[in-house]
Order: sequence, then C-alpha cells, then structure tokens
Amino acid sequence: MKLLVTGGSGFIGSNFIRHVLTTHPDDRVVNLDKLTYAGNPANLADLERDPRYTFVQGDVCDGKIVRDACRGVDAIVNFAAESHVDRSLMEPDAFLKTDVFGVFTLLEAVRELKIARLLHISTDEVYGSVERGSSRESDPVRPSNPYSASKAGGDLLALAYWHTHRVPVVITRSSNNFGPYQYPEKVIPLFVTNALDDQPLPLYGDGRNVRDWLYVLDNCAGIDLVLRKGADGEVYNIGGGHEVENVVLTRQILQLTGRPETLIRPVKDRPGHDRRYSVDSKKVHQLGWTPRHRFGDALRATVEWYKGHEAWWRPLKSGEFRAYYERQYGL
Ligand code: NAD
Ligand code: DAU
Repeated sequence: MKLLVTGGSGFIGSNFIRHVLTTHPDDRVVNLDKLTYAGNPANLADLERDPRYTFVQGDVCDGKIVRDACRGVDAIVNFAAESHVDRSLMEPDAFLKTDVFGVFTLLEAVRELKIARLLHISTDEVYGSVERGSSRESDPVRPSNPYSASKAGGDLLALAYWHTHRVPVVITRSSNNFGPYQYPEKVIPLFVTNALDDQPLPLYGDGRNVRDWLYVLDNCAGIDLVLRKGADGEVYNIGGGHEVENVVLTRQILQLTGRPETLIRPVKDRPGHDRRYSVDSKKVHQLGWTPRHRFGDALRATVEWYKGHEAWWRPLKSGEFRAYYERQYGL
C-alpha cells in the first residue's frame, strides 16, 4: 500500500509510520505535516533517507496541498490535530480549524479522488466523562471541552460523509497513549522530565481523575489492523485496559525516576476536567487486536527512553514551551 499519513511528525503518527514500515516492508508512506509546535522532524530522523518515506510540509486545511499529496495513494490515516486539552482552553481557534475543517478537507479529497479508505484517528474523550461502566461505539458523543468537541465534530462529519456520499471512512477512538516521542506537555512525559530535573509535578485538583493508559505501540498495531481489516462506516474503540488515578500514576513515575513524593505539587484543577474515561474495546478485540505490553513494563521502558533521550526533549522544554508552561502553571 501507499499511505498518506497526516500529522505523521507528532507523537502517535511518527510511531505509526515506523510501525508500518517495519511490519509491512513493501509499503510506502507520504507524511503531510504542518510542523506546528507539536510536530518534530527529529521524531522520524531515522527514516529521512529511506526511499519508502516522503515528507511534505503543509496544512490539512489546504485543499490543493491535500489533493497533491494524495497522488497515487491507496489510503489516508489522519493523525493531524491540535491534541492538548489545556491549550484548547486557552486558544481554541486552531482546534476548530484543524480538528474539524481539516477532516472536512480530507473527506472532500477522498470523495473527489475516489481514495479507497480514510482512517480518521479520534479519541475516547468524545464520549465525555464516564462515571461508571465503559463507553461503547454506539453511545452518543457528549464532549465537554473545546478539544473533545472539535474531535467529535470531525467524527460526526466523517460519519455523515459515509452516510450521505458513501465516502469510505473508518474511525478509531483510543484511550490515553504514552511512550517515546510524546511532546512533554502531556502528563507522563511532563512528569518524567520534571522529575529528572527535580522540578515540581503539578497535579490537578485532588489527583483522583482516572485515565486508561495505552502504550503507543499497542495503539499503532490496533490502528494498522483497523486500517486493513475494519469495515467502512464503523467506529472502533481502542482501550489500554489499565485505568489508574493520576495520583497513583504520579507516585509510580517518582518511584521509577528515584525521586521523592515531596515533588508532587497540587495545583488548581483544569476547568471542566473530565473525571474518568473508559472504553469498551470488544469490537476491536473481535478483529483480532489485544494490547501486548504490560503497563508496568511499558511505563518503565518509557521512563528509560526519556532518561536516554535528553537531547530530544531538552530543546522542546525551552522557547515556546517555557512561555506556555509559565502561563499554564505560573511555576
Ligand atoms: P501530537 O500533538 O503529538 O501531533 C499532532 C501532529 O499533527 C503534529 O505533528 C502537528 O504538527 C500535526 N498538525 C497539527 N495541525 C496540523 C495541520 N493543520 N495540518 C497538518 N498537520 C498538522 O498529537 P498525538 O498525541 O500524536 O495525537 C495524534 C492523533 O491522535 C490526534 O488526532 C489526537 O486527537 C488523537 N489521539 C491522541 C491520544 C493521545 O493520548 N495522545 C489519544 C487518543 C487520540
Ligand atoms: O483520552 C485521550 C486523550 O488523552 C487524547 O485525546 C488527548 O489528545 C491527550 O492529550 C489525552 O488527554 P488528557 O487530557 O487525558 O491528557 P493529559 O496528559 O493532558 O492529562 C492526563 C491527566 O493528567 C488528566 O486527568 C489531567 C492530568 N494532568 C495533566 C497535566 C498536563 C495533571 O494532573 N497535571 C498536568 O500538568
């Protein structure tokens, strides 16, 4: 297959491209990425000279750039998004543009050029907070922050294009990912790198919000399976099956980095902070997917990766990030 991967220079996209070229050596990948603050060419530096890999810098909201990038492509996998909830509370504009209008631009290209498949990457956040039980794909979306509302908008548009025009879309909604190459604004890489620098770990509210953690390579395997075996017009949840309170996760990170619990700094809660996410992943299990990595081992490997890749994350924590950090935390 020749794939167009959008947003391939970010966290999950870069892991996915490496996964595809490793497990399907005859595939080719075009990566279309705008290189926002979260897009980093260093994430794929090892593939720069690989003849199977091509990089195009551009915006998924630009119809001409998208159509040009689609030349000869069998399928598109859309990771391009503004992805950080806290930033969506400060500056939501880019979220609406990329996470809704970007999806629209891709749908139009798929429709016009008759591309065989668009796999749109979405999130468990579209279901909103789930106090009890787990969300199923047939549940209504009830997003509660500008990020998740924009993602839900993209999902609904994609499903509407399937319903009205039979544009061949399929959607995955995964739980919280962690692993190598995650931008250090997200809780795991932020807390790991802060701990390594003996800096405070800003824990929101009472620290008892629950997230379901999924190792990024397990998500990549699930996405790849849905891409090749999923059915048009369907949504597939991909959950890690490891739900944990933030405070417990924070203590585990401190233990793995050998730092004291006195580094935990309780801070003001995130406005509208969803208490818990949980998805029912039976449908993707029936396709043949299951997470292969145990949470404890994957978290340890992730901490070791950040310890061994200071040259990757240190530059990211200066400049733009510093200004964001001060505005967000006042620390
Ligand atoms: P990320 O922020 O690390 O990467 C996003 C990438 O998209 C970056 O490379 C960025 O440059 C690119 N991009 C942004 N706007 C663009 C535009 N207009 N045109 C082209 N490229 C653009 O995000 P991530 O964590 O890798 O998430 C990838 C996808 O997975 C997103 O759609 C996100 O909603 C979804 N998701 C993420 C998680 C998670 O835990 N990280 C969980 C579920 C779903
Ligand atoms: O659930 C999937 C979603 O997971 C994805 O769709 C998003 O793209 C991704 O960013 C992630 O969203 P979260 O808001 O859950 O991730 P984040 O890492 O920002 O926060 C995880 C939890 O940790 C959440 O309950 C808030 C808390 N937190 C986060 C930060 C950054 C803190 O307590 N302190 C922090 O400084």
